[in-house]
Amino acid sequence: MIFSGNSNLPLAQKLASELGTSLNKAEIIRFADSECRVRLEEDVEDKNVFIIQSLSNPVDEHLMEFLLLGDAAKRGEAKKLIAVLPYHGYARQDRVHRPGECLSAHVVAKLIESVGFDKLITVELHNETILGFFEIPVVHVSGLSVFQSEIEKIKKDVVVITPDAGALKRSQSFAETLDLPLALIEKKRDLNTAHKILSMKVVGDVKDKTAIIVDDVIVTGGTLVNAAYLLKEKGAKQVIAVATHADFVGGADKILQDSPIDCVWVTDTIPVPDDRKFTKLSIFPIASTIAAAMKKMIK
Ligand code: R5P
Repeated sequence: MIFSGNSNLPLAQKLASELGTSLNKAEIIRFADSECRVRLEEDVEDKNVFIIQSLSNPVDEHLMEFLLLGDAAKRGEAKKLIAVLPYHGYARQDRVHRPGECLSAHVVAKLIESVGFDKLITVELHNETILGFFEIPVVHVSGLSVFQSEIEKIKKDVVVITPDAGALKRSQSFAETLDLPLALIEKKRDLNTAHKILSMKVVGDVKDKTAIIVDDVIVTGGTLVNAAYLLKEKGAKQVIAVATHADFVGGADKILQDSPIDCVWVTDTIPVPDDRKFTKLSIFPIASTIAAAMKKMIK
């Protein structure tokens, strides 16, 4: 049985259809004081149950819906309870960056486990460190494979770019899969101001190349736009920005459209509202990749 929160119903419907079924019914309401109440409208006893939810903006709202859906299924005595998080929110807070900070990704992992989920499927985590925060098995699906065939079409003079040191492992394995060279951007953030970048430097050869910047998520667009300016300045002939998750905040569409980036490729792990779509943007479907992981779990 497949239930979904409200964060990405179109994707949840596609996942259900990939599994040859349709979404099961749940009631999710908000009280006047904004508290959420959830009720599964179908009997889950002894059934394998998937709960789908992208933990995108507004993250806390979506997280709470997801936890309550999980609790309802657990109380309904589901046989196996499987969380499907196409986008895992709080994943960037995977370390204590400054003394006195919380470790949010760890808190979220513990919350998910406290509800009684047996397994988790998630896509393109910010960092695989988070896997160590879970006791339950986690299937970590790469979202980047959906862009592969498109990149193969432009294989000549292409270089994969890591937008910051934290993203190195992801871009390294992507470059290896595609047999492409890799260059690195050294990004220094202001840890006291959210989203503020202090400096960026390119390490590697990008001259006359198509530079493909590979990231996990776009929020303000700042990381990719700053990287694109730098890459063009260093002689890149074309810049393609590739990110699995598009959690665009207001203004990101304009910043990206007006930037030196030639194309922005994302998947539909998070729905992009029509008024945030722009001409340089292409959205690649991720449903079959996630559905393949779901199918393995109920074999
Ligand atoms: C940061 O380390 C992440 O991997 C992304 O690069 C970042 O969160 C993107 O955010 P923005 O679009 O606001 O620069």
